[in-house]
Amino acid sequence: MYISVKKLLSEGKIAQDVTLKGWVRTFRSNRFIALNDGSTIENVQVVVDFENTSEELLKRITTGAAVEIHGSVVESQGKGQSIEVQASNVIVLGDSNPETYPIQPKKHSFEFLREHAHLRVRTNVFGAIMRVRSVLSFAIHDYFQRNGFFYVHTPIITGSDAEGAGEMFRVTTLDAKNPPLTEEGKVDYKKDFFGRETNLTVSGQLEGETFAMALGKIYTFGPTFRAENSNTSRHLAEFWMIEPEVAFLDLDGNMDLAEDFIKYVLKYTLERCREDIEFLNTRFLEEEKTKPQNERSTMSLIEKLEFVINNNFKRVSYTEAIDILKNSNHNKKKKFQYIIDEWGADLQSEHERYLVEKHFECPVILYDYPAKIKAFYMRLNEDGKTVRAMDILFPGIGEIVGGSQREERYDVLIEKIKSVGIEEKDLWWYLDLRKFGSAVHSGFGLGFERLVLFATGMSNIRDVIPFPRTPQNAEF
Ligand code: 4AD
Ligand code: MG
Repeated sequence: MYISVKKLLSEGKIAQDVTLKGWVRTFRSNRFIALNDGSTIENVQVVVDFENTSEELLKRITTGAAVEIHGSVVESQGKGQSIEVQASNVIVLGDSNPETYPIQPKKHSFEFLREHAHLRVRTNVFGAIMRVRSVLSFAIHDYFQRNGFFYVHTPIITGSDAEGAGEMFRVTTLDAKNPPLTEEGKVDYKKDFFGRETNLTVSGQLEGETFAMALGKIYTFGPTFRAENSNTSRHLAEFWMIEPEVAFLDLDGNMDLAEDFIKYVLKYTLERCREDIEFLNTRFLEEEKTKPQNERSTMSLIEKLEFVINNNFKRVSYTEAIDILKNSNHNKKKKFQYIIDEWGADLQSEHERYLVEKHFECPVILYDYPAKIKAFYMRLNEDGKTVRAMDILFPGIGEIVGGSQREERYDVLIEKIKSVGIEEKDLWWYLDLRKFGSAVHSGFGLGFERLVLFATGMSNIRDVIPFPRTPQNAEF
């Protein structure tokens, strides 16, 4: 009977006949195959009857080879496993030349593995990360579907710049070498495929809002593209974002939703990916040991996850945060690259991480930011200078969520749109929401890879997405 390694290790019975298919991780002493089929981080030990196996076949059982094993389950003689498989027949399905196979049974650097992203998922650490990523994305759907949210597929190709940051990838079928020109000599996008300028979406929010104002509670979960030239360990040019949007919800409700949601998905994943997360926990602790004492995490990965699941996030206004930062020794001793000297300054990730890691030592929700440093759609407060924005900041990550209560008042929104230089005609449909049945509503965006970073204890965002897209890099 064909059986996965996961099922075999949890349900296999002594003397049961089994067929396994997988890849050889190691082959020791011409006898012991450590076999992995991806279903679990665990390998199963397969014992080859080498006296009755031809030399030629033994030579083909190499690291990376795909094999089919027929055998029976026996009690394990070795340590660590209760059962193993005594092979009666080994068939090599696909050879792997040990001289040229890049993934050797030894420690490879993450840089090396990034260059072999098509094979890195065959290692323990990337197998674990990608299984956690899969469970985490299911947990996200589970949370929303249980709570009455509808999943909306917002467009990938759009004509609007939701964040107003202008960091977009153009979508065009025009001939780059010889585009049609207008009389003024500019590229004539009327002749382009869509008859207008289009780009890959930076956020599904604006379209999401239209659905929230009909279905009540919705979420998107899809790819998002930003052409920001930031070569950091927290930025990707292509990443996945989850964006819930809820009618009749104010900023406080939005914070409650975000906090409850994050706790649920992390708890769900910790419970269902115990083996993978335990493996990643050990890796995390080993990496911490290589750091100077004062930079080491005081908690293990599992402790960090449990801490977030079991403790309230600290809610702090931007104004309070600026006071804390301004009066911090860090600021006074000029340890920040960007010194905080006045209200209105945009927070850099060094400030966010100071608040979370040094000052509050827990996840922080910052709210009521200066209107000037936030997007046009956020609801203006009575003070006329702050908006109902919220960012959630996480240890080791910085910003993980960005959201807000939306400006639902037509007059206020139109003024704002004009003042930031957006053409009213480009957002006519968004403005319509404020003309017909407008209501208080709120939502947020969670960067999925930043959440996977946190859940796996990894430190570079390129290692938690299968094939990272970053400046100067779109291999695979
Ligand atoms: O804060 P942002 O830009 O918010 C929005 O896009 C809103 N429209 C969301 C909403 O209210 N519906 O992005 C949201 C989150 C960030 O907090 C961050 O976690 C992630 O998306 N993010 C990125 N993740 C990886 N690489 C990048 N280049 C990212 N840019 C943003
Ligand atoms: Mg943001």
